[in-house]
Amino acid sequence: MSKIAVLGYGVVGSGVVELFYKNKESILKKIGKDADIKYILDIRDFSDSPYKDKFTKDINDIVNDDEVTMVAECMGGATFAYDFVKACLMSGKNVSTSNKELVAKKGAELLAIAKDKNCNFFFEASVGGAIPIIRPLHKCLAANEITQIAGILNGTTNFILGKMINDNMDFDTALKMAQQLGYAEKDPTADVEGHDACRKICILSSLITGKHIYPESVYTKGITDITLKDVKLAGKFGAAIKLIASVRKLADGKIIPMVSPTLVTYDNLISRVDDVFNAVMVCGDGIDRALFYGRGAGKLPTASAVLGDVIEQLKTEGRGTDTAQTWVDCDNSEIVADYKNAECRMYFRVSGASDIRPENIEIIEDADELVFVTQKISFAEADKLEASITSNGGKVEAKLPVLDI
Ligand code: NDP
Ligand code: HSE
Repeated sequence: MSKIAVLGYGVVGSGVVELFYKNKESILKKIGKDADIKYILDIRDFSDSPYKDKFTKDINDIVNDDEVTMVAECMGGATFAYDFVKACLMSGKNVSTSNKELVAKKGAELLAIAKDKNCNFFFEASVGGAIPIIRPLHKCLAANEITQIAGILNGTTNFILGKMINDNMDFDTALKMAQQLGYAEKDPTADVEGHDACRKICILSSLITGKHIYPESVYTKGITDITLKDVKLAGKFGAAIKLIASVRKLADGKIIPMVSPTLVTYDNLISRVDDVFNAVMVCGDGIDRALFYGRGAGKLPTASAVLGDVIEQLKTEGRGTDTAQTWVDCDNSEIVADYKNAECRMYFRVSGASDIRPENIEIIEDADELVFVTQKISFAEADKLEASITSNGGKVEAKLPVLDI
């Protein structure tokens, strides 16, 4: 009999327990042997829970129990979760986590410990919620050279943008709703400032390069400056504004990962992804492109991904570790190129007296404000254009990339 421990009984952890017992019979058939949840670790009191006998507040109960071979970490953060996951791996237990902060900050170290201890460190739930993306990237698409990934990787911000655009809801009310639905991070600044999407693109970038890409190396901008005015003007241009996380491989092998509110034209399926849904477009030299779509956050969708890892581990137990899902530490300056070299069309909204009309622009509006989209230019050239507009008496109120995938 395989014994499982769940760390954290919040939104995701309680979903893992609920979905396991709801579908236990079919899950055990898939695993091919008996299995049960032996422990649930949480600091809160759950003496009224039907699972009250499984609760512990002491990680050592789990670490020192040889019966436990699989641990699902759903606590969040990179302090206690890091200590606990490390202790579990050190004692030879396999771990699955939904915690992207932990994977983005400590992935290389934890993967190395897992390899050393001949166990697995899985994190399918850390990117895209319910969407299978980690395993497809390093298994189903392993034959490809992955050249570009771009998509919506944060459900909370997509939910907020949708409520603002479609229901005219203000930002704070929409954020409160996302929190009540269990989508947002404990500190929702991580969602709205783009840090959560940044952690996720770091994980995908690490997978496709085999090198740990750290959040500090990634240009990251959130949605807090997005106005309804820009949303409407983007619509006039034929685009939706989405928080896009992306990574592109350059000819010299370096990558440019970034997170930014971005205009996505209506001919791109990603522009139609609404509510808490995420979508990830993957480009490879064999496949051309593949789009992954599904619920990006929430209790049962995320639990589904955590339990997918648990089932994968328990059914293959004793058959070695998953060596394909790994990366090593590296100096990011050697692999991450300056985002200012990235090229795409740029949306500008300019107020004031500037009479600058760059060549080859598509003008969206030329009334109180000048609103236009440039041809493909680099972020550095866009900065130069902004400087010349400013020195000519204008003010750039908004400057956003247009998605090119
Ligand atoms: P919650 O805050 O709902 O749940 C975390 C639980 O762990 C809480 O009950 C918390 O207690 C408990 N906990 C925290 N620290 C400790 C500790 N040191 N010892 C024991 N228990 C502890 O978070 P979520 O379930 O929403 O998220 C968990 C992880 O999954 C995070 O990394 C998150 O980013 C990730 N994730 C979340 C998704 C979602 O839709 N919510 C989707 C995908 C990933 P207390 O509340 O008292 O701190
Ligand atoms: N806060 C995250 C989101 C949870 O909204 O996408 C899923 O990782």
